[in-house]
Amino acid sequence: MAEVSKKQLEEIARVCLEARKNAYAPYSHFAVGAALLCSDGTIFPGCNVENASFGATNCAERTAVFQAISNGKRDFLAIAIAGGTDGYEPKDYVFPCGVCRQVLREFCDRDFLVCMVKSIDDRKVFRLEELLPHGFGGDDFL
Ligand code: THU
Repeated sequence: MAEVSKKQLEEIARVCLEARKNAYAPYSHFAVGAALLCSDGTIFPGCNVENASFGATNCAERTAVFQAISNGKRDFLAIAIAGGTDGYEPKDYVFPCGVCRQVLREFCDRDFLVCMVKSIDDRKVFRLEELLPHGFGGDDFL
């Protein structure tokens, strides 16, 4: 597992705050941005994309992961996430929902870093294993 530098964490924090501005959240007014760091150093942004049929909504984290996968990436080191009422700076850390944790589990190992961003300098980092302990994955199939 490659090390993630402080500079890289700061960069994905910046990208997720930027991506948050593109959130499409006319129903919840809760705008979320994400930025996924690939092992080759590339970064994919994502935002939440809501739908009048609420269940069709896609979270920012999954938008970033699906974009990266669609661009041929498979190895990921870290993701940054920022969210809060649209038009305002984030008031608190936003942790990924259960579905997004499971999607991350599909592609990332237990040491993958999940960085919750309140502001560029106010971040909290967990390993995926801490957020989804004893998770189910492809390696559980016989
Ligand atoms: N949301 C995300 O994009 N990521 C999260 O980690 C939590 C929730 C979105 C989904 C929905 O558009 C809005 O936030 C309110 O749930």
